[in-house]
Amino acid sequence: MVGIKTVVGIQEPEDRKSFRALKAFLKKQRKQERKETEQQSGAQLPEAVSVIKEANQPENLAFMGRFVPQMFALSTFTLATAFPFVSGPQISTKGSLLGKGMYGSGPFRFDPWELYKDGKISSMSAVLLGAVGEGKSSLAKSMALRFLLHGYKLAVMTDSKGEWTVVVQAVGGSVIEVGPGRDARINPLDPGTRPSRMTNGEPMTDAGWKSMVRSRRMTLLKTLVGILVLRDLQSTEHSALSHALDASVEKYGTEHVLLPHLVDFLRSPDPDMDPELRKAYLNLSYALDRTKEGDLAGMFDGPTTVDFDASKPAVSVDTSALSGASAEAKRIVNACVGSWVEAMVTNPDGGQRLCVYEEGWDNINSEADLERMVVSWKLARHYGIFNLLVIHKLGDLNLAGDSGSRMNTMAQSLLADAGIKIVYRQDESELKHLADKLGLSQRECDIVRSLKKGQGLWRINQDSYCVENILTAAEKDLLNTDARIVEGLDDEEWEDAA
Ligand SMILES: Nc1ncnc2c1ncn2[C@@H]1O[C@H](COP(=O)(O)OP(=O)(O)OP(=O)(O)O)[C@@H](O)[C@H]1O
Ligand SMILES: [Mg+2]
Repeated sequence: MVGIKTVVGIQEPEDRKSFRALKAFLKKQRKQERKETEQQSGAQLPEAVSVIKEANQPENLAFMGRFVPQMFALSTFTLATAFPFVSGPQISTKGSLLGKGMYGSGPFRFDPWELYKDGKISSMSAVLLGAVGEGKSSLAKSMALRFLLHGYKLAVMTDSKGEWTVVVQAVGGSVIEVGPGRDARINPLDPGTRPSRMTNGEPMTDAGWKSMVRSRRMTLLKTLVGILVLRDLQSTEHSALSHALDASVEKYGTEHVLLPHLVDFLRSPDPDMDPELRKAYLNLSYALDRTKEGDLAGMFDGPTTVDFDASKPAVSVDTSALSGASAEAKRIVNACVGSWVEAMVTNPDGGQRLCVYEEGWDNINSEADLERMVVSWKLARHYGIFNLLVIHKLGDLNLAGDSGSRMNTMAQSLLADAGIKIVYRQDESELKHLADKLGLSQRECDIVRSLKKGQGLWRINQDSYCVENILTAAEKDLLNTDARIVEGLDDEEWEDAA
């Protein structure tokens, strides 16, 4: 069947003239935009950002200058089948430039806050998955660096390899290093920063704040006991913990209460107390003692020594020093640090932030982390954050527990509730499962199979966009995770090189 002839591109000399005029106009507009961005970000960001800022300008991205109009005379049938993505519009003309559409859809700009405002996404969370070394972290890092230029902040909620440290330091952020032998001490019972509004949007009251802090502390304490005694709390233990917390807060004040205060209180129950309750007090005190012993000594048993400055552009929690610690110690650290960081970051008054869960499978098999992430996914819009969970494959979500278990259901909800799914190249064995879960077509599966480093299929609602993340020269130096392996640099040498 003969289709209708359609022409794509610029054919007539007249058209070419207007194309040149358009190009000149765009160049002028970009210059103006750059001037404005520099003025805005220069005022907000520290000096260290300027190198990245300079390299990040649209004109410096190689592909921007290589647009050559192509002419095709094709039937609409051929067009629709040969270039399915050409016909799709760009997701947005607003936001940070992350790269280019792989099938001719032009520059790819991304700003989840704008997309939400425009009704194009209904959830402020994304899952990024892909095989080892395909460029997932580089995408997350370049996204963070470019978001910073638009005034958004960054929080790296977990960084078990310490690979974000150079990035956070380059933008003048603070890196909190926790682990045996590190200086940082964190009081997991810190109340955090009081937000001006409650989750229902009403102004925060004293009673509302008190109840929010208490609930966060009880959740953390229950989690710690769960990790230490490997079972859920009995009802007497629950009452004992609740009494001990209230009594310690009353005695030491909500700003100063520490875990050892609570342990001391549990250690000396009233002799006239009901024997069952007395037993629960003592059992809890022995269990919680572990948080100040052995490889955890000095980490959570005193006032916080690190300075969390919410006005800084970036913060990361580097737990790479824990690589040799026991699984139990890691889980305790994750619970304490996660609860603390979240209290600091999830505050709607703290500005809009990208929250990255790097190597997210570490969090997925911890019930406490998972519970916090589920809440964070649900309240992301209220907190003003955009969550990005980085994992290798969908199967990582099953690390949470057997199918049908509470943990597994929570992990699967992170995927279901993510408005954006970014798929980097996947191993063949993963493709069928992926296609089923994300509703990918055969053509999209073929694309995922053939993606190269730095390229990804973005599913935004039911639409797909194929995007190549383009790194600037400055970013390539900063983000090169291969260099450590190839050149065998130690951390200090790597930092010098970067
Ligand atoms: N878009 C890109 N352009 C050029 N180089 C890239 C790009 N994306 C990633 N790389 C390079 O590929 C290497 C691996 O990238 P990256 O660490 O981001 O992969 P990953 O998927 O996070 O790996 P892992 O699964 O081990 O965490 C890095 O050295 C990085 O510089
Ligand atoms: Mg990575």
